Amino acid sequence: MCGIFGYTGRKEAQPLIIQGLKHLEYRGYDSSGVAIQNGLYSIAFEKTRGKIKNLEEALRRHPLGGHTAIGHTRWATHGTPNQLNAHPHLDNENKIAVVHNGIIENYAHLKEKLKKSGARFRSETDTEVIVHLIAKYYRDDLESAVRRALKDIRGTYAIAVICSKEPGRIVAAKLDSPLVVGIGDKENFLASDVSALLEHTNQVIFVENGDLIVINRDSVKLTNLSGRPVHRPSVKVDWNVAQAKKGGFPHFMIKEIFEQPGIVTAILRERIRNAKIHFDELKITASEFKKIKKIVVIACGTAYHAGLVGKYILEAFADIPVGVDTSSEFRYRNPKVGKDTLVIAISQSGETADTLAGLREAKAKGALTLVICNVLASSLSREAGGVIYTHAGPEIAVASTKAYTAQLALLYLLGFYFAGIFKTLPNSKMRKLLKEFFQIPSKMQRILELYKREETEWAKNAHDFNKRYHAQLEKYFSTDPLKRKRSPNGFFLYLGRGINFPNALEGALKLKEIAYIPAEGYPAGEMKHGPIALIDENPWVICIAPASGTYEKMISNIQEIKARGGIIIPIITEGDNQMRKLNPLYSIEIPRCSELFSPLVTVLPLQLIAYCAAREFGEDIDQPRNLAKSVTVE
Ligand code: AGP
Repeated sequence: MCGIFGYTGRKEAQPLIIQGLKHLEYRGYDSSGVAIQNGLYSIAFEKTRGKIKNLEEALRRHPLGGHTAIGHTRWATHGTPNQLNAHPHLDNENKIAVVHNGIIENYAHLKEKLKKSGARFRSETDTEVIVHLIAKYYRDDLESAVRRALKDIRGTYAIAVICSKEPGRIVAAKLDSPLVVGIGDKENFLASDVSALLEHTNQVIFVENGDLIVINRDSVKLTNLSGRPVHRPSVKVDWNVAQAKKGGFPHFMIKEIFEQPGIVTAILRERIRNAKIHFDELKITASEFKKIKKIVVIACGTAYHAGLVGKYILEAFADIPVGVDTSSEFRYRNPKVGKDTLVIAISQSGETADTLAGLREAKAKGALTLVICNVLASSLSREAGGVIYTHAGPEIAVASTKAYTAQLALLYLLGFYFAGIFKTLPNSKMRKLLKEFFQIPSKMQRILELYKREETEWAKNAHDFNKRYHAQLEKYFSTDPLKRKRSPNGFFLYLGRGINFPNALEGALKLKEIAYIPAEGYPAGEMKHGPIALIDENPWVICIAPASGTYEKMISNIQEIKARGGIIIPIITEGDNQMRKLNPLYSIEIPRCSELFSPLVTVLPLQLIAYCAAREFGEDIDQPRNLAKSVTVE
């Protein structure tokens, strides 16, 4: 997820671009740049690594004059975050400049073809193929050249393009990445989202997939990729900047929860081609993987829970024993790993101190190391033997949601990848499973749409919990002190079995970290070994009980809890009448899916429960107390 911004009008463009990029910095902040038509034969540009303030400083030293410009703030997906890979990217004559948000899936193939026809590449990015394609097709008509270039591209994009031979003009296009046009008075704007436009205009055009836009200072023309005019109404938006950054959602966390189906779809589209798994950035060869006899996953917090799900996945797909360890335990345990071991470190930030230390320990012991990470060129991704990126975009909320499901999606793909290497799955089975996997994002989407429709019901249930908990507290304190039993606890127990057990831990962690409510995740089979003593009329018990091989066991657990007065909130497969009869008061339904892929689906209600509870209690959802987004200290 990157931020792009464009301006054409009568004002000096440079300060407007910088201001616009600052509003978009939350979308990506590892490098930035600007390209300006300065009236000469070539485009003037400046690019810097790091935050936008570095670009601002560079432009203070070397200002760029001009009235038409495009800018970019980057969240790197391909190519280390550095000045060369920063956008904009220019053709070899510096006549044409492009900024891009998205992923070009067939960039490697296009790059080879373009190099053969003489294009000289300066960067490692996928984006650079776009500007060389446009240069290849340019015949003094930028709009046609962009239209022709996009026909060669497969992937997602929001692009803005300028050419030194067409002053005052920006050409843009959109496919599965956001893009908005801002309409001004003898000036027009372009941005990845509304937040960057609001200080100039609230009259906007929300561009649609397949649209190609030509913007001059006094005109905006939209056509489709075949050149036919399209009409998009200009609308007045009444969001403030903060709301716009969250896409109209009240918090980044809920926005990121809703991004999950799209991210998993993008991962599948980028990584699966002709029923084969592609990890282009992975530097470990199949022959190296073939030497491993065991896998150890290390991670912290939510990433650790992803690793626990990964155990079920990798053992099922690759038929290799998998151990999972919290990084803080692994690093001090003198772990028994060596040349026969693949150590997989999972980390959203790529900077978690304990996981970094665990990776170094594994390398020191000769293990093969692989990182699943969301941040290019992070410490973990630089030090591991191989890396696979989740491409989930910046996760702003401290509570991890979209990174978690992106990690799970990559673990499934890694399982398929190993199955291909170790020949542990027949092709027919692989194709069947991949087909099922492709249907998962739409099931995730259905849960979120149902939540949107029933949001008030969710809020009411959270309020019920709040009322019940405080009524019990009042009853407790109004009782004669000598007769009081232990105080009621607003306590949640999360139960799951098999591949859904780690989600019981993840659901409990979400509730703890954003609603500050005590919660414990447990394998449901453990209830008899102690936790059932907690059950009276107090704790709320979230039971992850979709259709599965252990469904009947979950039913027994629920009956035992109900017999002792506990309140159950079961997460069930839609149409589960048996559970609805057993527990008529509450239930959360998920679409039917195979048990194997169900963690990607059952985790969404768990994230929403935590979100609704925290909102009910008025907590600071995006920045919970005592927590940091990345724990870089031990
Ligand atoms: C999860 O919601 C928490 N923010 C935290 O547990 C987090 O998962 C953990 O600190 C690991 O972070 P990482 O993925 O960046 O390594």
